[in-house]
Amino acid sequence: MKEELQKIQQEGLEALQQVSTLKDLESLRIDFFGRKGKLTDVMKGMGNLSQDERPIIGKLANDVRTVLTDAFDTTKHTLEQKQQEQQLMAEAIDVTLPGRKPAYGKAHPVMQTLDRIESIFNQMGFQAVTGPEIETDHYNFDALNTPSDHPARDLHDTFYLTDGNLLRTHTSPVQIRVMEKQTPPIRIIVPGKAYRVDYDVSHTPMFHQVEGLLVDKHVTFSELKGVLVSFAKQMFGDQTQMRFRPHFFPFTEPSAEADISCTVCQGKGCRSCGHTGWIEILGAGAVDPEVFRAVNYDPEEVTGFAFGMGVERIANLQFRIPDIRTFYENDLRFLRQF
Ligand code: DAH
Repeated sequence: MKEELQKIQQEGLEALQQVSTLKDLESLRIDFFGRKGKLTDVMKGMGNLSQDERPIIGKLANDVRTVLTDAFDTTKHTLEQKQQEQQLMAEAIDVTLPGRKPAYGKAHPVMQTLDRIESIFNQMGFQAVTGPEIETDHYNFDALNTPSDHPARDLHDTFYLTDGNLLRTHTSPVQIRVMEKQTPPIRIIVPGKAYRVDYDVSHTPMFHQVEGLLVDKHVTFSELKGVLVSFAKQMFGDQTQMRFRPHFFPFTEPSAEADISCTVCQGKGCRSCGHTGWIEILGAGAVDPEVFRAVNYDPEEVTGFAFGMGVERIANLQFRIPDIRTFYENDLRFLRQF
């Protein structure tokens, strides 16, 4: 029995040398210490020993068990450490790999156009100011020489709010707000949103305008023309022609609409310009004396000019999209093209 125990110890220690996984170690443990294991078998046979032999073999059996248990524990510890190291290696992060690129946004096409318009007028000395989008009848209409019985009000399909205010139908009311607060000379542009009940291929209920206002002593209509022609050439190219047609606006007198030579056919006539060679881009005029009176300016003292243009319309001359409403559908596949 003594030899048998020594053999088991020997065998166990040798087998442990060969074990390379925790799973194999576990089955080896069962082979030796399990209910039907080698060591367990020997222990079971101890009952047949004599009184003298029993304590000696008993002690030896315990020693063998201790040696093997220790060896198993050591092997287990080593294997666990090896496994952990392998796992760490497998999960290691290569910090030298390039990172994920952040997704940069960019300006909406309408904002790109608005920025360009603004910077051209900035260069000519016009300062950008803003005003409220919720307005009163007074600022949106009355002070702009458009009393409630005035037929021009019908042209504006106004969104009225339940409290009696309205969504401004144009950026012109900011002219009044600025003149109320400042004294001439005034040289401003007003980029901003305007609202009208309107929805088709060339109209959205919310749209953008840039208003312009210049007030000083002895301002003439030819200066208005100079400013606008310079703007058109910078915006659409040096070859651009501009013409002024007489028109009516309540807040300017005389008034004009300005056309530029068609950007598609250079004035020859095509579908884009309705075969006229011209495309209307803005309204303008000399500030009406009634408007000056509304802000307590003396029309005998000062004169001025004003203009207003639709930004989506100008953006569309650059980008030529068939339906202006697609600007506001927020489809990134569309917007990413600009
Ligand atoms: N407010 C006008 C509109 O929305 C545009 C306009 C025309 C503005 C003539 C002006 C102007 O300042 O002088 O249709």
